Amino acid sequence: MESDHKSIQPGDLGKEESTGHFPVLLEEILDLASQAVQDCGGPANCSILDGTLGAGGHSLALSKIGAPMILSDRDQRMVSIAKERFLSEGVESSEPRFDWRCSRASELELAPDLGFALLDLGISMIHLKGMNAGFSYDDDTLDMRLDPELPDSAADLLNNLDEQSLADILFQYGEERASRKIAARIVASRPLESARQLATIIEKAIPGPRKRAHPARKTFQALRIAVNRELQEAAQAVDTIAAALKPGGVLAIITFHSLEDRLIKQTFAKLCGANQPPEQSNKYFPAPEADAPLFEKAIRKSITPSAEEQEKNLASRSARLRAIRRRIIE
Ligand SMILES: C[S@@+](CC[C@H](N)C(=O)[O-])C[C@H]1O[C@@H](n2cnc3c(N)ncnc32)[C@H](O)[C@@H]1O
Repeated sequence: MESDHKSIQPGDLGKEESTGHFPVLLEEILDLASQAVQDCGGPANCSILDGTLGAGGHSLALSKIGAPMILSDRDQRMVSIAKERFLSEGVESSEPRFDWRCSRASELELAPDLGFALLDLGISMIHLKGMNAGFSYDDDTLDMRLDPELPDSAADLLNNLDEQSLADILFQYGEERASRKIAARIVASRPLESARQLATIIEKAIPGPRKRAHPARKTFQALRIAVNRELQEAAQAVDTIAAALKPGGVLAIITFHSLEDRLIKQTFAKLCGANQPPEQSNKYFPAPEADAPLFEKAIRKSITPSAEEQEKNLASRSARLRAIRRRIIE
């Protein structure tokens, strides 16, 4: 995929106001990371992973902890942007302690020495506002792929899937109640070539007074999730990263919609449950003891941004942070 940073110039990249991206729940992430690195023996004895680097906002702050870092994103364009951002903030991106990668988080090759790992899921403001890649309602493309190895663009799905499969995607990944009506309109309007065209079709399919959100919001979310297989990716990424945490190490995940949050909540609950639940037992065959779980919650429930953060950064409104810790078993 060609990079096309339509409205963001390289000189802007150090500035949060112009990239439009404020790192969400930053203080909470820094508190968790500092404590976890300390619990793992300090910055000389563990490393930090940012598996969803984006514009590098969280990573820049995490770099101050002083541990070696793996900085990775599945989108090569974001890795380049984050490197520039480091430079513009006076942090030398070529320092040997920085290991820059372009990888899906699920496929990262990791040594088992992670003190802290972050996944800030979804897409960046730069994807939305600065790439013309089909994520925004007025984009004149309809791609949405975060990495070029993905087989199908959003346009491929919209132009080739049968109506029922399209409706299923909109319903399951967007929780869109008008999924059938929208799918029928899409099929009748083929071929679709731009996000603008798609947004207009949806506006016509769901007429009536505008509520707060754009009527195409759920459809765009559903397509993005399907194109990038975001839910399958996130579940596999948790397994990959959890396996590389040191005892005391923490995996923190920020999600932005309820489907993703539910998935992370359930995946974390499994990891924090007993490893082998006792099989059925009776008085003649007592069940073997379950192994103690390897992980525990690092945050009791979940954390959402403060009212102050939400006011400063509207995009943070739907964010939710969950975290688990690899237990230190004596
Ligand atoms: C919300 S942004 C991260 C913003 C970043 N924390 C910051 O402060 O700038 C999400 C980023 O994660 C990347 N991403 C999403 N899912 C991913 C995955 N499964 N593996 C690797 N990168 C992923 C996207 O390409 C995007 O750049």
